[in-house]
Order: sequence, then structure tokens, then C-alpha cells
Amino acid sequence: EKGGYKHFMHKEIHEQPRAIADTLRGRMLLTEGDVHFETWNLTQEQVQTFTKVTILACGTSWHSGVAGKHMIESLARLPVEVELASEFRYRDPIVEKSHLVIAISQSGETADTLAAFKEAKRLGAHTMAICNVIGSAMTREANLHVLTNAGPEIGVASTKAFTTQLVTLYLLAVKLGRMRGTLSVEGAQEHLTHLTQVPKMIEDVLKCEPQVKRVAREFMNAQDFLFLGRGPMHPVALEGALKLKEISYIHAEGYAGGEMKHGPIALIDEKMPVVVIAPKQPHIAYEKIIGNIEEVRARGGKVIAILDEDDNQADTLADHVIRIPAACALLAPVVATIPLQLLAYHVAEMRGNDVDQPRNLAKSVTVE
Ligand code: F6R
Repeated sequence: EKGGYKHFMHKEIHEQPRAIADTLRGRMLLTEGDVHFETWNLTQEQVQTFTKVTILACGTSWHSGVAGKHMIESLARLPVEVELASEFRYRDPIVEKSHLVIAISQSGETADTLAAFKEAKRLGAHTMAICNVIGSAMTREANLHVLTNAGPEIGVASTKAFTTQLVTLYLLAVKLGRMRGTLSVEGAQEHLTHLTQVPKMIEDVLKCEPQVKRVAREFMNAQDFLFLGRGPMHPVALEGALKLKEISYIHAEGYAGGEMKHGPIALIDEKMPVVVIAPKQPHIAYEKIIGNIEEVRARGGKVIAILDEDDNQADTLADHVIRIPAACALLAPVVATIPLQLLAYHVAEMRGNDVDQPRNLAKSVTVE
């Protein structure tokens, strides 16, 4: 059932080209420059009256929400707030009828997300669930649900659920952009064309595995890791750190690059590996993230840089370079996540950990 892989997580990482193709299937209307969701029930009028989007999620799904904020704000020009579902109910949240509240959840059963979602619905918001499990509690609760179609995810550490959430959010951003008139037909066609290329890109990026394994072997005994990214790469840094800590049990932190000088820089010494996610994209502040690499190097830290395949500016600065195919800014998070999943997997596997069933964790957290 693991299809020749030692662990479900490894199998699920490699399933991502197919999972993403399944997420996209039948939903991209290239000629019309539009997106078709089977379950869609919002009218143009409703969509035009939305004044705000609030995303509710936990853990990895919260990270996809942070990336989704960049997508929705950029294409639909709607302000997006991303909330930790576990905090939402306890602070008298501002929810109005003109708000679209989106719960993102692989399982559709996470207790904190479900409770926050019900509260938002009670307060009058329009609710939408992005889930991987058909018929789950959140899909039943929502006014509208969209499935990520990743197929069953068995490894406790979320991989294909995350990347398919990102792709679903991208489709949603295009849909909302078209319905609100902030995105032209041609603009939408361009975004959809980028999306069609993602499964192939993921296949290509998976070829970095031998290089990632070398990095994993060198740093498998590190005590701490830092992950840095800017703009849409910030949630990728958070996700890389979460993946590593949950299965390898190595302490790791994800930071927005600009925040490094406000504290974490004090941690950097020659024992500290720093993973810098720096594809060359406008909203990623490339020059600034290169500055971060230089700051780490100046303090003796070890830099593992995730760079576009044709980047020959930053590669001499880093101790290790992992190449990824160049993607547009909003899709780069999908591509850049893959080497980080592989890094966490191989470090955990080399340390002899139970990768699919990490200690103290459950696949679905049904307690608040
Ligand atoms: C991390 C992980 C958790 C889940 C979180 C939310 O790999 O799996 O952080 O992302 O518990 O779960 P769902 O998405 O099912 O609501």
C-alpha cells in the first residue's frame, strides 16, 4: 500500500504532481479565462459585496492560508486576514455579513477550526470550507465547500494536502478576481496557464532529492535550524520549520527575512544551518534576501539556499544550493515547499524516527 516507499510521507511527497493535477482537473476554463468549481453557488452580486476575507486554520493549513492571502489580495484586491482558529473565538472577533470566512483544513474535522467556523457562521458571515475529506464536518457546515482532491493523506505530517490547498487557493483567487472585475480575461488566462505547468514543475523539482539528501546527512545532528523567506516565501519558511520539528524533533524556526535583524540573528553561529528560500521574484524582495544570506555568512552560519535554476548571483554565497524551476511569484511557494518536505523527511528517516507517526501528534486534532 506504500507503493514501494518505506513511509507514507515519502510516497505522498512523490504523489504531488498527480495530486495537483487532480486538484486542477476540470476547473480551469482557459478559453473563457475563468475557473469552474463544481459546488460554486455565489452570485456575482454576492461576491462584489464582500468587503473582507477571513481565513481560519491551524498548523500547516494556516500556512497555506498565509500564502493564500497573497494570492487573493493580489488578484481579487480584497483584504484578507489569516487567523489561528484556536485564537479566534476567544477574543470577540469582528465578523460582518459582508465577510467571507474560509476554513482551510485537510481533515475537515479539526476541533479548533470547526468551532471558529461555526462561530463565524453564527455571527452572520458567508462561509466556505476548503477541505480534503468529502463529507467532513466542515464541508457540511459551510455555505460552500471546495475540495482539494489530494486523495487520502496518511502520514501525520501534511504534504500533498498543503500543496493542493495552495493550488485551490490560487484557483479561488482567479475566480474571485474575475467575479469582482479586478482580473481581466487575459490576466486570468495567464494565471491559469501558469497553473497548468505546476504538475510538471513538481516532477522536475522532485529531482533535487539526491542533493537534499546530502544536505540532510550533513545537518542531521544539528540542534537548531532557521528558515527564512520573504513575501509569499514567508509561509514556506514557516512550513519548512514546522515539518522539520514535527518529524525530526530538531528545533526549528521560520522567520520573515526582514525580522532576522530584530532578534534571531543573535542565535547565528557556525553550528546554525539557515535555509534561505530565495527564488528570484518581485514580491520576494530578492536583493534583500540575498542580504540576509550575507548576514548569516558573516556570522559563520551555514547557508542552504533554495534558488531558481538559472540563478548565478546567489549560488556562490551559499554553502549548499538546491535548484528549483522558476515559477511565477504566487506559485513559487508550491514549488519551493517540495525540497523542504524532502529535507524534513530525510533528516527524520536518517535519525531513525517513526516518520508517519511522530511522537505526541495525531493526524486529526479533535480536541480544542
Ligand atoms: C502538520 C500538520 C498539522 C495540521 C493541523 C491542521 O504537518 O499536519 O499542523 O496541518 O493539525 O489539520 P487540518 O488541516 O486537518 O485541519
